[in-house]
Amino acid sequence: MPDVFVSRSLDEIRFWSRIMKEHSLFLKLGFRCEDTQLINEANHFYAVFESIENKSNTLPLNSDPQVIRKFNSDVHIAVSHIWSFKRKILGLILRCQLPGANNFPLLVDHTSREANYFRNRLEQLNAGKLEPVHDAIIDENVFFLRIMADHAKFIGHLLDPSERKLVDQARGFSNDFDQLLFQAKDLESMRPQSQTNPLMNQFLDQNKVSVASLRDFKKTARDLINACKIKSIIHPLLADHVFREAERFLAIIDQFELHLTIENKAAKMVR
Ligand SMILES: [Fe+2]
Ligand SMILES: [Fe+2]
Repeated sequence: MPDVFVSRSLDEIRFWSRIMKEHSLFLKLGFRCEDTQLINEANHFYAVFESIENKSNTLPLNSDPQVIRKFNSDVHIAVSHIWSFKRKILGLILRCQLPGANNFPLLVDHTSREANYFRNRLEQLNAGKLEPVHDAIIDENVFFLRIMADHAKFIGHLLDPSERKLVDQARGFSNDFDQLLFQAKDLESMRPQSQTNPLMNQFLDQNKVSVASLRDFKKTARDLINACKIKSIIHPLLADHVFREAERFLAIIDQFELHLTIENKAAKMVR
């Protein structure tokens, strides 16, 4: 039986190091030709996360936990650096020091929130302290619902304005997810009283339906972009990237639902 610490660590690193690598590429594509220093820094992070990704794919599930602990802390350092890089870029954009560059401030902030999430997860794993599941249900949903709401906004803004139907759909998703995020924040402020199994179940069910339909929309957009059937300035890899993040969120919801089902069964057996 593989060590849970090892398998969880490798799963997080395999997923998020690829994401960090792709962020470096997206940021680079948004810089101006003359921003050679920033382009070099982005290239550096691309190489760093590519090598982390490659290493995570070669380490087996029966690796020594001590090796993984060291790997987690090395990755943690790299993630802290890319987080600082992203915040530095955000500062430059917001002070209007990169006029004409093509990275939206919200996109840069968004990628830094993803880095921060990854960094926290590595800290929790190495400290051996994952959150209690009822707290995790609320916190993960608050985090990912905002990520999904942002994605819908990015898609809406990067599609060509002449793609009126798709822009409209993207705007619809943006509104839906803003609402879901507020609902999640309401449950957050009502905790611990809000953390009953029926409320958690309904919360997950409702979010799952919306995430699945956003995931399908992203998949369609990705396929249309790949086939060059729609007008946009969305990089095909960005379309796939946001699709994968929705899949990740759905997988997390599934794990929570499974956990609640087991908890409910156990509670019935005690009664
Ligand atoms: Fe991302
Ligand atoms: Fe994202």
